Amino acid sequence: MHEVRSASSGRNGLAVTTGTSVGAGSGSSPEDACTGTGPTANTPSTTVNARRMRSTDDADLRFTSLSQPQHHDRPTVLVVDFGAQYAQLIARRVRELQVYSEIVPHRITAAEVAERGPAAIILSGGPKSVHVEGAPSLDPGIYDLGVPVLGICYGAQLIGQQLGGVVGRGMQGEYGRARMTRTGASLLLPDDAPAEHDVWMSHFDGVTEAPDGFVVTATTPGAPVAVLENDERRIYGVQFHPEVVHSPHGMDVLARFLHERAGIGADWEMASVIDEQVELIRERVGDARVICGLSGGVDSSVAAALVHRAIGHQLTCIYVDTGLMRKGESAQVVETFRRNLGIELIHVDAGWRFFSALEGVTEPEAKRKAIGEQFIRVFEENTGGLTDARFLVQGTLYPDLIESGGSDGTASVIKSHHNVGGLPDDMTLELIEPLRELFKDEVRKLGTELGLPDEMVWRQPFPGPGLGVRIIGEVTPERVALLQEADAIVREELRLAGLEREIWQSFAVLADIRSVGVMGDERTYGHPIIIRAVTSDDAMTADWARIPYDVLETMSQRIINEVPGINRVAYDITSKPPGTIEWE
Ligand code: XMP
Repeated sequence: MHEVRSASSGRNGLAVTTGTSVGAGSGSSPEDACTGTGPTANTPSTTVNARRMRSTDDADLRFTSLSQPQHHDRPTVLVVDFGAQYAQLIARRVRELQVYSEIVPHRITAAEVAERGPAAIILSGGPKSVHVEGAPSLDPGIYDLGVPVLGICYGAQLIGQQLGGVVGRGMQGEYGRARMTRTGASLLLPDDAPAEHDVWMSHFDGVTEAPDGFVVTATTPGAPVAVLENDERRIYGVQFHPEVVHSPHGMDVLARFLHERAGIGADWEMASVIDEQVELIRERVGDARVICGLSGGVDSSVAAALVHRAIGHQLTCIYVDTGLMRKGESAQVVETFRRNLGIELIHVDAGWRFFSALEGVTEPEAKRKAIGEQFIRVFEENTGGLTDARFLVQGTLYPDLIESGGSDGTASVIKSHHNVGGLPDDMTLELIEPLRELFKDEVRKLGTELGLPDEMVWRQPFPGPGLGVRIIGEVTPERVALLQEADAIVREELRLAGLEREIWQSFAVLADIRSVGVMGDERTYGHPIIIRAVTSDDAMTADWARIPYDVLETMSQRIINEVPGINRVAYDITSKPPGTIEWE
């Protein structure tokens, strides 16, 4: 049992919230709403966590989380993480090849690997040199398990070093594209790849002498041993990065390793995830009642749809409409869940409560706090009647749970989810986390398979306090209505320009200043709208999106013509850092 105490978020005042898009503080995954959490040492397969959460109004809330039991009967590839971000990309690529993969820390022992019985192992790249003291290593017993192994970059160097070869030091290194030449018959490189082709490199050291029993099948100018193979032991290494798109035959190499050398079929697909989860959920839930806090975001929506597929009317969803949502969003949530999917949905239309709590409040943190407090109260009032509920659905994703190997061997980084908004103190719920094995792009695919509309599946991250943090100054129903109109225009024009999926977030901000303008013969003294659009991978850093001028022009004209009181439009060209994505 581990205790996790989460402090209330300084950013949003929504430390304990419901639904996926609520509660993310700066730097956390915005879809899934996490505020700063103390480190935990449990792995995803830990069965029982007691978490204690602190809400903004200091009420202590407790719930029990019983992790989703995992299936182990499907062929699994273990991706051993040696640091940086390589392992996640490799794991996703393996899944693209329809083979289930999981990331494990490099500290994993041979006994632990043997117990998990993987179909293959891939050693990821990493930022360190194998020669540096304290560089991450691999339990050498793993090579003797008879499980096929592919080492990539640092992983290949480890194979070279640990099995008796030589890894050169202070070599010239190669960064970026390199020309690779085949030097012998290879069982790993695809037959149809030309004898010379480009690969993507990022290394300083490299294997200079392959261990006994290995053949060198390719070289590049900076890597005498670019590919090494020991088919008898089924251990292979590539110095280049097959997982990146800049290695044109990279996916073929991975496919060849998985399907041919390791003999794993391409069987893992979304439909099987649905069947498997449906079965698991039914088994676990029996005839109990399950509740799910919906935010309208991707993760909670897909999680709810999946659980509903399994247990139908035993699921009740709760959607708290703060009045601070984007234009038409609440109606869409209700329409999709209640009408299209036939899910029992409690739609709490609580806008007026939020607006009265926000009256006269202008300071950003005070706004967040006011919204957070209301949220918890509303949620609590509306779950109070569900006394027979035993389970709570959460849209936790795999990246939230991965225990990072980290090249420095640091402890696990596990994000705690704060989707349990305002549940009564004495309510003990077990968690159902049906998406905990999936990456975001897989969740989107799953959502589509479950019949969720594109607008929901491809929805951008949206902060818990909603438009409240995009209105500078007081938040009133009138100002929200105005911002909703401008915001809808920004997003609609981006969609029409086909740019929607390239952009992480795009929205309008209403500033609390006025400027002079002229419309017709009239002098105006109106408010500006600021357009914010950023590209990003994880919201930790972001760049302002290079939206074409003509798209910006259409947005500007439409906003000024269609939204009363707006006489000027500005485009925010600040990256993060130094700026943040949101304005408050
Ligand atoms: P910033 O503005 O810190 O935002 O660059 C990073 C990501 O987090 C989202 N965000 C929030 N999400 N409550 C949330 O649930 C908040 O108070 C909050 N503030 C920012 C933001 O939309 C971006 O994706």
